[in-house]
Amino acid sequence: MDATSIIRTENLEKIYGQGRNALRVLKGITMEVRRGEILSIMGPSGAGKSTLLNLIGCLDSFQSGTLVVDGMDVSRLSVDALSDFRNRHIGFVFQLHNLLPEFTALENVAMPLLIRRISAQRARETAIEIISKFGLSDRAHHKPAELSGGECQRIAVARAIVGNPHIVLADEPTGSLDSENSKSLIEGLFALGREHKTTIVIVTHSHEIASMTERTITLFDGEIRSDTKNGVSAQPK
Ligand SMILES: Nc1ncnc2c1ncn2[C@@H]1O[C@H](COP(=O)(O)OP(=O)(O)O)[C@@H](O)[C@H]1O
Ligand SMILES: [Mg+2]
Repeated sequence: MDATSIIRTENLEKIYGQGRNALRVLKGITMEVRRGEILSIMGPSGAGKSTLLNLIGCLDSFQSGTLVVDGMDVSRLSVDALSDFRNRHIGFVFQLHNLLPEFTALENVAMPLLIRRISAQRARETAIEIISKFGLSDRAHHKPAELSGGECQRIAVARAIVGNPHIVLADEPTGSLDSENSKSLIEGLFALGREHKTTIVIVTHSHEIASMTERTITLFDGEIRSDTKNGVSAQPK
């Protein structure tokens, strides 16, 4: 594998169900993502976008093919090793923010660091710093129910990126937001990603967001239909 490659799949296949009910959802996906690349995945509903993202994120198993993430052949890892690998290498953002309702924004953002056994004080300081980058310092001590949808999504992005993962995977993160909130969320995510050379894979229905990424892969019925460069500079300014 090329040293600059961070995600590589070869003939990746995912089948849900068995026998007559078997549904082949990914029909042999072969793709490679460069370290630090910001990539969008588009395609109609049901095309297999979330399935592919969940495989890359080590959240689900697959039937055949190869998947190498950050130099690791993840099909060889045990369940425990996989969850540790995920915690250290991958940050997730989902369409609905999945923040823990009982905890404040600050506590939610600090959580991945606490799971890694980083000291409470350091976790807190790091969380405060990243929350301030999203312009939410004054909301840090509020619980999700006291925040707007846009604020919750920014906190969810902060949580995904706080541990400085090599890869951030975002599955329609702006699906529940208006276009103004969408744009500021994505600009914040991409700016931090470029600063830390994070690889970002974002599933989106928005052509505007896709055009902010360097490359767009379009899935159709479990296969890659197109893979195009968008002419966005990886290192603006
Ligand atoms: N857990 C599951 N069990 C069975 N079928 C599933 C499951 N998850 C997704 N599917 C099916 O797989 C196909 C692709 O789903 P998905 O990856 O969620 O598509 P997308 O994110 O592109 O809308 C769909 O036909 C969906 O119904
Ligand atoms: Mg989906």
